[in-house]
Amino acid sequence: MCGIVGYIGQKDAYPILIKGLQRLEYRGYDSAGIALINGDTRTYKTKGKVSDLENYCEGKNISGSIGMGHTRWATHGEPNDVNAHPHVSMNGHFVVIHNGIIENYGRLKSRLKTRGYNFKSETDTEVLANLIEYIYLKGKVSADVAVRLALTKVVGAFGILVACKSENNKLVAARKGSPLVIGVGRGEYFFASDASPIIEYTDSVIYLNDNDMAVVTKDSLQLMTINNDKLEPKIQKLNLDIGEIEKGGYDHFMLKEIFEQARSINDTFRGRVSFDKQSLHLGGLYNVTDKLVAAKRIIIIGCGTSWHAGLVGEYLFEELARIPVEVEYASEFRYRNPVIYKDDVVIAISQSGETADTLAAIKLAKENGATVLGICNVVGSSIPRETDGGVYTHAGPEIGVASTKAFTAQVTVLTMMAVILGEKRKTISQEKYLKLIEDLTLIPDKIDKILSYNEMFKHISEKHKDSENFLYLGRGFQFPVALEGALKLKEISYIHAEGYPAAEMKHGPIALIDENMPVVVIATHDKSYEKIVSNIQEVKARKGIVIAIVTEGDTVLKDIADYTLEIPEVSEELAPLLTVVPLQMLSYYIAVLRGCNVDQPRNLAKSVTVE
Ligand code: AGP
Ligand code: GLU
Repeated sequence: MCGIVGYIGQKDAYPILIKGLQRLEYRGYDSAGIALINGDTRTYKTKGKVSDLENYCEGKNISGSIGMGHTRWATHGEPNDVNAHPHVSMNGHFVVIHNGIIENYGRLKSRLKTRGYNFKSETDTEVLANLIEYIYLKGKVSADVAVRLALTKVVGAFGILVACKSENNKLVAARKGSPLVIGVGRGEYFFASDASPIIEYTDSVIYLNDNDMAVVTKDSLQLMTINNDKLEPKIQKLNLDIGEIEKGGYDHFMLKEIFEQARSINDTFRGRVSFDKQSLHLGGLYNVTDKLVAAKRIIIIGCGTSWHAGLVGEYLFEELARIPVEVEYASEFRYRNPVIYKDDVVIAISQSGETADTLAAIKLAKENGATVLGICNVVGSSIPRETDGGVYTHAGPEIGVASTKAFTAQVTVLTMMAVILGEKRKTISQEKYLKLIEDLTLIPDKIDKILSYNEMFKHISEKHKDSENFLYLGRGFQFPVALEGALKLKEISYIHAEGYPAAEMKHGPIALIDENMPVVVIATHDKSYEKIVSNIQEVKARKGIVIAIVTEGDTVLKDIADYTLEIPEVSEELAPLLTVVPLQMLSYYIAVLRGCNVDQPRNLAKSVTVE
């Protein structure tokens, strides 16, 4: 999720920490904080930017050659000074900074409360700090053993740094699911979420692996697993520049975020799919579930890619929960004097949570008495504060202007909502309910398999990067994906592209088809497969170029289409999560080959906060 830095050595830690946090600002964040150790332990933290933290530290005691810093991307508890990291355990023995999500924090928090612990913040991280302290005091064990034992009780993702007041010559680092790298200097060590804050001090690094833990003093580093198996540190040489490190070694943030989708969808699931995969839980809907179950109509509002996710939601809710759905562009909805009933449920979808049109549409819906929910990626942004409930997508910061991992995270949330409602309204069988949950959990690996066809995406992009027009066709669940694929292409490569329901081709667009027109057709195995094969034949009959997204093993379209891009077998309702990936990759490589600014396309902003 966000940023961690740490230092232990001979130098003043403060400037190293601040500069390190500035290096990590590209990752996006909402608050920042540091802890400094020099005999005592002092923590300074504030909502806002690293510069706000620096202003806050003005005139304070910033001495110490051991310290840690954190930039927060909130998941549990809105961005504010109290929820910012570092978090100090109740009796002050431990200071913790954390990247990631602790899924079982609720259960751990309840248990700690029965043992006399109270909490200042809403975060999952503070629960970890108190758990470590509880084990440390009760078990009378060393700080690093307390950390290790606590982490064996944690379910979820973490990259952490921990300091102990009474053992204040050391830092304990550990990771599972959230990256952490240690820079090895002469009589000093550096810690960070990626190597960008480290590279100016040393090119010798140790990448922690999942379940690794390191106990570090100025003069020593011990590496072990959380299960206490001793490990031999493997020091590697950094050979990336800062820009490459920030993008995780990818050429662009957009490519990094496309490849992050397996992880981001797993983060969307975290704490929401039961361990036995027998049930789904969306905590943000608890207070509105009855309204949703009884809803006579759902209205979904959004803009751009979020509107496309809403269209997928329409097919999901109607198919699985049999609830009528209308999907509206927020900009149209806010002005066309729509009919809104008190028992309507309005779902606003927004990655940024700040889109002006969507905010205005929410206000209109609330004025008319509807229940309004949000599906957002940025915790504490304006839309979640305006709505009656909702679900965070937990996709992590999306830096590229073209939305990719946020879209699949939005669709994942909508799918979970539709499955939950289908089960509660008995419009799907228990067997279907369990099958969909099982299939959902298999999506991340299937996305990674699709991304392994990288060379094919490049080959097709090379062939058609100079086309002036593209057509994207899909039916049913795949129609919204066709729209999304067209938007991706046009917004980053500046090629004109249109998405259409495949059957609509005969009502006009077929006039466009000729030997210069690439037509991307999503033709996966579903109930409209035979129909879409006919549509492809119609395109071929007019010499059109067909790029078909097919279900792996499809032998029919291999002989008809000019290119076939395979996706693994998947149930129809979940297919959009997979079929969008080849379209993201095609738009990415075509834009790169055309020399476009992929991460910051001309005329576009990441968040449209004006009308
Ligand atoms: C999508 O790639 C675009 N960047 C844009 O259409 C975006 O989806 C739209 O502006 C809505 O933004 P939001 O999700 O932050 O509300
Ligand atoms: N889950 C923690 C929180 O909400 C850490 C989030 C992050 O990775 O920054 O504070």
